[in-house]
Amino acid sequence: MTEIRPGVHWVGAINWDIRECGAYTTPHGTTYNAYLVQGSDSTALVDAVEGGFADEALRRIEKHVDPEDVDYIVCNHAEPDHAGAIGEIADATGAPVVCREACRDALEQHLPGDLEYVIRNDGETLDLGDRTLRIFEARMLHWPESTFTYLEEENVLFPNDAFGQHVAASQRFADETDWVMEEAERYYAAILQTYSTLVSRKLDELSDLEVEVIAPAHGGIWRPRSESSDPEISTEAIVERYGEWSAGEKEKKGVVVYDTMWGSTGEMAKRIAEGLMEGGAETRVFKLRESDTTEIAKELLTAEALFLGSPTLNSTMFPSVGEFLTFIEGIRPGGQGIPFGSYGWASASQNEMEERLADAGFDVEEGLTSKYVPADDELEAARRLGLDVAESME
Ligand code: FEO
Repeated sequence: MTEIRPGVHWVGAINWDIRECGAYTTPHGTTYNAYLVQGSDSTALVDAVEGGFADEALRRIEKHVDPEDVDYIVCNHAEPDHAGAIGEIADATGAPVVCREACRDALEQHLPGDLEYVIRNDGETLDLGDRTLRIFEARMLHWPESTFTYLEEENVLFPNDAFGQHVAASQRFADETDWVMEEAERYYAAILQTYSTLVSRKLDELSDLEVEVIAPAHGGIWRPRSESSDPEISTEAIVERYGEWSAGEKEKKGVVVYDTMWGSTGEMAKRIAEGLMEGGAETRVFKLRESDTTEIAKELLTAEALFLGSPTLNSTMFPSVGEFLTFIEGIRPGGQGIPFGSYGWASASQNEMEERLADAGFDVEEGLTSKYVPADDELEAARRLGLDVAESME
C-alpha cells in the first residue's frame, strides 16, 4: 500500500542494511521516504532519497507517472540521506528543485552542478492545479535549511526528519507495526532533543494547522486516530509525545551508566540500581563498553537522574566515560547528574565528571567515591544513595 491519500504515493527507498547513521545506531535499518503528489496541472516529488537509491525511487515513480512528467522536486532538507540522489532524479525528470533560499545555499555546497532552482520561502506556495503545497521554515529541526511542506487540500504534513523513525519495514504506516513509537522516541532523543525549545515553538506555531497525516522522511507514516488501527500510534499520539519530549517531561526513572576496570565501580553501580528499584524507580543500567549509546540517549530523554560511574585511570576518567560525556554534551537531556566511582590513590575522575555533567546541562548532585575496593559500608551508602534519589522523585 503506497497511496497515503488520493493521488499521493510513497515512492521512497528502503535501506535494510544500514546500522549507523552519523553518530547514531540504526539497528532496524531505515527508509528514505519520498512522496509523489499529483495535482490536476502539475506533479511534485516531495523529498528525495540518499545517493545510490535513485534507481529504486525512480522505479517506484514509474509505477504512477513517466518520470519526465514530474514537474517539481521539493527539497525539505539538504542532508545527503534526502538530497544525495537529487542530481540523478533531476536528470531523469528534467524537473527543477523547489526549496527555500537557505536550502538552495546548502544544496549548492553539497551538490555542485547545474541544478535549476525555484525558490519558495516561508509561507509561500507551489500551485499544482487542484492541489497546493505550502512551505514552512523549520530552522534547526534539525539543520538551518530544514523545511516542512504542507499539502493543503489533503491536510498532509511532510516534515522531513521530524516525527521520523529509523525503521526499515515492508509496512508504510506507523500503526501497522507495534514497535514504531519506541523508535520514534529513540530518534527524537538522538536527532531533535538538543533542539527541544525550537520543537516546542514549532508545535505551537503549527497548532492551528489541520494535520491529518504526518508523512516523515524516515520510517512509518502517521495516520489520524480515526483511521489508525491503534489510537496510541497515530498523528495525534505522536504530536502529543513530541509535546511531552520537547517540554522535557521526566518520569520516575534512574539510569546508571558506568565503566569499570577491576569491578569496583561496577559493584557500586549494581548497588545504586538496587536502591533505585527499592525506591520504586524504573531503573536501567548500562556498562558503557557493552552498550549502545543511542539506546542510553533514549532512556535519558525521560529519566530524572543519571548516575555516571568511572574509575580513575592515569589521573583521569576511564576513556569510554569521557567519550560518553562528549556524546551527551551535544544531546543535553537534563535532570540530575550524580557521579560515582572507585580510585587507587587520587580521586581525579569525580571532579572531572562533576564539571562535565554541569557543562552538559545536568543539575549535579554529590555522588560517591571508594578507594580501591568498596567496603560493605560504602556499598550500603551506594544502595542508600539510589534509594534516596528514587524517593525524591515525584
Ligand atoms: Fe534524515 Fe537530517 O537527515
